[in-house]
Amino acid sequence: MLCRVAFFVFVAIITAALADRQPQLTIQPSTPVVSKEVGGKLALTCAPDVEESSLISQLEWRDSKNRRIESTNNGKKTFSQSNGRDLILFFQELQERDAGNYTCVANYGSETLKSTVVVNTYVDITFVNAPESQYPKVGEDYLVRCKVHGNPTPIVEWSKKDNKIESNEKYVIQSDGLLIKNPTEADDGSYTCRAYAVSTGGFKERVIKLEVIIPPVIKDMEPVSVIEGEQAWTKCEATGKPPPTYSWIKQRNSQDLSKSDRFTVKQTTGNLLISKVEFNDDDFYKCTAENKAGRAEKTVKINVLVKPKIFELLNVTAPVHQETKIICKARGRPTPKVYFRKVSDKEHPFRVGQQRDPRIILEEQMFEKTGETFGTLIISNLNRSDDGLYECIAENSAGTGYKNGHITVEFPPTFERTKLLEPIAWTWLNHPGNLTCIPEAIPNATVVWKHNGYIINPGNPPFKIQGFGPTSHLIVDAFNDPRFYGEYECLATNKLGKATHSITLKEAQVPANVDKVQIQTLTATTIKFNIVPPQYFDTLPIRSFTVQYKPEGEIGWSRARNRTWSFRAPYILENLVPEVTYNFRFAAANDVGFGPWTNAPTVTMPRRSEPAEPKIYVPNHILDNSSNRQDVVAVSPYADHFELRWQVPNDNGDPIDVYLIRYCVITKINGEWRDSDCSEEIQQTFKSTTYDLNSLKPDTFYKIELRAHNSIGSSSPAQIKVKTARGIDPAVPYNEPSVTNFAIIGIVVGAVILVLILVDLICFCVNRAGILAFICDRNRSKHHEEDPKLGREEEREPLKDAHMNGGEKTMSVEFDGKHVYSKSGEIIGKHSAV
Ligand SMILES: *[C@@H]1O[C@H](CO)[C@@H](O)[C@H](O)[C@H]1NC(C)=O
Ligand SMILES: *[C@@H]1O[C@H](CO)[C@@H](O)[C@H](O)[C@H]1NC(C)=O
Ligand SMILES: *[C@@H]1O[C@H](CO)[C@@H](O)[C@H](O)[C@H]1NC(C)=O
Ligand SMILES: *[C@@H]1O[C@H](CO)[C@@H](O)[C@H](O)[C@H]1NC(C)=O
Ligand SMILES: *[C@@H]1O[C@H](CO)[C@@H](O)[C@H](O)[C@H]1NC(C)=O
Ligand SMILES: *[C@@H]1O[C@H](CO)[C@@H](O)[C@H](O)[C@H]1NC(C)=O
Ligand SMILES: *[C@@H]1O[C@H](CO)[C@@H](O)[C@H](O)[C@H]1NC(C)=O
Repeated sequence: MLCRVAFFVFVAIITAALADRQPQLTIQPSTPVVSKEVGGKLALTCAPDVEESSLISQLEWRDSKNRRIESTNNGKKTFSQSNGRDLILFFQELQERDAGNYTCVANYGSETLKSTVVVNTYVDITFVNAPESQYPKVGEDYLVRCKVHGNPTPIVEWSKKDNKIESNEKYVIQSDGLLIKNPTEADDGSYTCRAYAVSTGGFKERVIKLEVIIPPVIKDMEPVSVIEGEQAWTKCEATGKPPPTYSWIKQRNSQDLSKSDRFTVKQTTGNLLISKVEFNDDDFYKCTAENKAGRAEKTVKINVLVKPKIFELLNVTAPVHQETKIICKARGRPTPKVYFRKVSDKEHPFRVGQQRDPRIILEEQMFEKTGETFGTLIISNLNRSDDGLYECIAENSAGTGYKNGHITVEFPPTFERTKLLEPIAWTWLNHPGNLTCIPEAIPNATVVWKHNGYIINPGNPPFKIQGFGPTSHLIVDAFNDPRFYGEYECLATNKLGKATHSITLKEAQVPANVDKVQIQTLTATTIKFNIVPPQYFDTLPIRSFTVQYKPEGEIGWSRARNRTWSFRAPYILENLVPEVTYNFRFAAANDVGFGPWTNAPTVTMPRRSEPAEPKIYVPNHILDNSSNRQDVVAVSPYADHFELRWQVPNDNGDPIDVYLIRYCVITKINGEWRDSDCSEEIQQTFKSTTYDLNSLKPDTFYKIELRAHNSIGSSSPAQIKVKTARGIDPAVPYNEPSVTNFAIIGIVVGAVILVLILVDLICFCVNRAGILAFICDRNRSKHHEEDPKLGREEEREPLKDAHMNGGEKTMSVEFDGKHVYSKSGEIIGKHSAV
């Protein structure tokens, strides 16, 4: 037991003594493993720990391959250096390969001392290949690159929007990234690539934005038709992500159209604009759409259409009854169709296969290669009516072209116009005969004149010829020389034939005696004659009549007064003296002169007297059949007034100074009219021929009397019966008290419109007034219809209507001693219309 204790103490003492005295090399830092980041600097100090340091020799550092590390710093990154006692190993820039066991070795006397340290290098986490934006193509498996470098190798994790991504059928986490299978747009987003090293505690993250791109796909393009000379465009449209950019190339010459003047390429929309289409633009065009994901191409045909143009349409000339062709040559793309129409008859075109005139057909020849069409209008058996301007029309889908051409139909001379003229030419003193000949002919006819079978030599007296075609006048200056009277022949000739026309030259005479003169109207100062012209004359027409007149006592006609009327004027003689007896003689005149005078019966002018009865216009008259006699009754369109209109009567030698008007209410009793309630006599100035009777009662018969007055007295009264319109004046129809009462009783007060309609209905029933009544009345009587709201100006209108509707339209010429009036109208009164 004691022995055992003593042994342990011994051992302890020995151990302590050995520990104290054991020579060794100490390496600092004193950890067995030194870890340092690659690229960093490291110094390892080796210090001999011995009692007799002078015994230390051959102190050196050896690397893991037991190679001695140089103790001089001659350009190396790793070297050792002594500070006299210790040897320091320097790593200027630590490399991964520098990792390993480093041993410090020295001789201590005969003893060899060694000490080893393990140098461990590590590499921090770095993203070697992990772009922050990545673009997978749709449908193509894609590796989201996130290559991480680090030593120790870091662990990489993936997440998207804070959701950890695990490997599954969609994702495969690989050492160099995340493989996404069959990417779609749904895979767009931000992915986080997180790397960490457990041993070093290093940790880094990278956010990678992923945008799935789709290569462009160009939609199908239909061939485009554009029109030459116009602006056109076409569109290339492609899907793709990001939106593709476009370019266009003309296929024939591979021209990049973005560099061409007339073309505009919209890179972002794919539109191709052609500012002015040219014929040669007809080609295939290639559209290219390109984006990050790829490019696509497609070609489209641009068809250039050309509006038809007629490049030839020649005028043609052909003789009547022959055949002619007029050819219209047109060009266009597509090859146009051609038809004709006559400019004077555009409604009836001539088309291929449509034959509306068996003589005329249209033939069409089309030359697809050149785009030309020849339309030939063939007219067989030409007629003169075919002459004229023809329009050729060429049509295709691009447009229409027009051109006019003339067909001239030649024909031999005719005398259609000349035949309309008088076949007689007249000559008289100082008036040579002027024979006119105007033959129609194409080409123009030449004219010669013949007399007695001989051709007249122009310029041979007494002849002169003005014009030799197509118009010719033969002047025969041979008055009073019957040798040159008689028939002349106009002979017209052109290349197709000749024709003659006869004209007779005669000597013109003055008119014969006036046949008869009657007195039509006689007043104290005027006479209206009825002159019957000479019954037969073979000479120029009558131009005028002249009357000479003188008081009966006067001898000879030398001092007679005269008056000339043109033929068919009203033959009125004025300013004669009452109670004087006159002699008259008449003569007719023509271009040659006055005919002989014819005496007319003597006339004694009547005494001055009161004026003749005025004539009243009867507007809107009706016939009242209620008695056995028919009464003419005028109808006033108004309930309360009537405009009386009349004609100025003859004043019978003394001027009218006033008109006198009187009216009475009349009622028919047993078929006889009875007066009652007559007015005072109303005076109306002689300057007026109208008078407005006011304040009449509605639906009442009135008798109106009108007399003209002069200093001698009053005329007999002209009379008219007038019936006023029913009801109140429709100008104020709704104020009628009874109407209002009815309305209040009848209808709910609020519905104003309903009330008005009802009021009108009631008006119609009770008073035959209001709109309904107006409409009804309008339909019932054509003569009773004027709009009651019209003012005085319009009141005159019914008169006109009445005369027109009356059927009889007579022309009356009246005379008041000063002026002649010519009026149209129906007149009643003592004097019937003249
Ligand atoms: C380094 O030394 C350790 C013991 O300290 C040993 O296990 C290892 O094998 C040595 N490495 C080399 C490369 O010699
Ligand atoms: C054809 O006739 C028309 C009228 O008759 C004329 O205006 C036109 O100039 C003519 N054309 C030719 C080519 O002679
Ligand atoms: C031929 O022309 C004449 C007039 O010039 C006309 O009256 C006739 O109807 C025409 N005939 C035809 C077939 O057009
Ligand atoms: C003959 O008549 C025509 C018209 O009808 C006229 O133009 C011409 O001047 C006349 N000639 C003479 C000499 O009067
Ligand atoms: C034919 O006559 C017409 C009318 O006088 C004239 O205008 C035309 O110029 C003439 N034509 C020829 C060819 O002389
Ligand atoms: C008509 O009278 C005027 C003068 O008053 C006279 O110059 C003229 O010659 C007369 N005419 C006739 C046809 O008597
Ligand atoms: C009066 O009789 C005539 C025919 O005699 C007839 O046209 C007219 O309409 C009748 N007038 C009235 C108001 O009955």
